[in-house]
Amino acid sequence: MLYDTLIRNAHVIDGRDTPGYDADVAIRAGRIERISDVGAARAVVDIDAAGRVLAPGFIDVHTHDDTVVIRQPQMLPKLSQGVTTVIVGNCGISASPVSLRGDPPDPMNLLGPASAFTYPRFSDYRDAVEAAAPAVNVAALVGHTALRNNHMDDLLRTASAPQIAAMRRQLRESLEDGALGLSTGLAYANAFCASTDEVMQLTEELQAFGAVYTTHLRSEFEPVLEAMAEAFQIGRHAQSPVIISHLKCAGAGNWGRSPQVLAALENAARNHPVGCDCYPYAASSSTLDLKQVTDAHRITITWSTPHPSMGGRDLTDIAGEWGVSLLDAAQRLQPAGAVYYGMDEGDVRRILAHPLSMVGSDGLPEDPFPHPRLWGAFPRVLGHFSRDVGLFPLHTAVHKMTGLSAARFGLEGRGDIREGHWADLVLFNPQTIRDVADFIEPQRAAEGIDGVWVNGVLSYDEGQANGRRGGRFLARGSLAE
Ligand code: ZN
Ligand code: CU
Repeated sequence: MLYDTLIRNAHVIDGRDTPGYDADVAIRAGRIERISDVGAARAVVDIDAAGRVLAPGFIDVHTHDDTVVIRQPQMLPKLSQGVTTVIVGNCGISASPVSLRGDPPDPMNLLGPASAFTYPRFSDYRDAVEAAAPAVNVAALVGHTALRNNHMDDLLRTASAPQIAAMRRQLRESLEDGALGLSTGLAYANAFCASTDEVMQLTEELQAFGAVYTTHLRSEFEPVLEAMAEAFQIGRHAQSPVIISHLKCAGAGNWGRSPQVLAALENAARNHPVGCDCYPYAASSSTLDLKQVTDAHRITITWSTPHPSMGGRDLTDIAGEWGVSLLDAAQRLQPAGAVYYGMDEGDVRRILAHPLSMVGSDGLPEDPFPHPRLWGAFPRVLGHFSRDVGLFPLHTAVHKMTGLSAARFGLEGRGDIREGHWADLVLFNPQTIRDVADFIEPQRAAEGIDGVWVNGVLSYDEGQANGRRGGRFLARGSLAE
């Protein structure tokens, strides 16, 4: 038997939250063909992986990579972390289906300028991803705010019955074309006025497709429990799984409440499929939100259209230099992006360690001075939190970014190392893996990632992208093929 690739003597951590074992893994025609001692078998490429861990390729369940997978298909920020699949369309914002009448409404501008939105139908987006052939697999949610943009003139109100009917039609068509589910971003002004009922009606489309409901909660601040209750109410009504995006206790007045928040999650999980994703940092990032401007913690500006030179600077310094209040400075900087140092480290660790939480980067690839989660989230969980802090064993860290994620989002044939599954794999050194990107130099590749295969194609090798791109569009329902 001649295999395409043989990875010998690897320590296999298979994605199922169980300790690893030593084995050889043989790849042929894009799939894992054999896991065992392959002895004298031969392969075109033969690798000795002694001393290193072979894991399923990481699934970044929370991304805003919608347009970057097409415009920069090498996907270096993700590939260099061992990520082999990205789920786009989170937080209510997606590149498709979208028809703009001007500039993209906030926060759709996180996905790029108006010229980046050229996919009026979900199938247009799917075709564009396939034509771009990115280095990583792409699966997509449909954003609620994107649907609102298409069918409502005034986003600062709840939708009318005919508007809801039009949004439902477009959501259904997208689900038929392979969307994974619906995402909302109810905290953002352009979705905040949507009633619970508006969202419930839309989610009635999900169940027929086995699709999921993901939500950036209506509040991550003091009313976080009420916002979670709303999300679970919507999910139960829809009879669809609920995934809470980047679960956190935001704002100084909310610190220390993670036990309550996690109890609410566990309680809901008793009779409904629910889970959450989170990123391993105590700072958040998004567009600059005037409601979040405070002197209770640090805020840095990442970009500003009228004042691009302010990228990377503290809001307090900018306000001081201009001789104005924080709020006035924030107003002058608009439109802009920010990093908010608004979480407690203890809460971050408790949420990250919880068995219902997955890892998602929430990275913002368009940002000229991005939050370091874009380049560092996955190695930070493996190196810093698992190995150095000892928050959980390595196999649990891997499970949170592979097996659990594939199961929650219905990505069949991926997320664990198993014969017959797609050969999405990452080879890393458990002693040296670490995130290098930080808040000062955020665009730096991780250390310790030795090889990344996407559908059997070796795409990242010895710390370099090699230019080969094996990613596919993963449509719901056609994943197993
Ligand atoms: Zn969000
Ligand atoms: Cu997000």
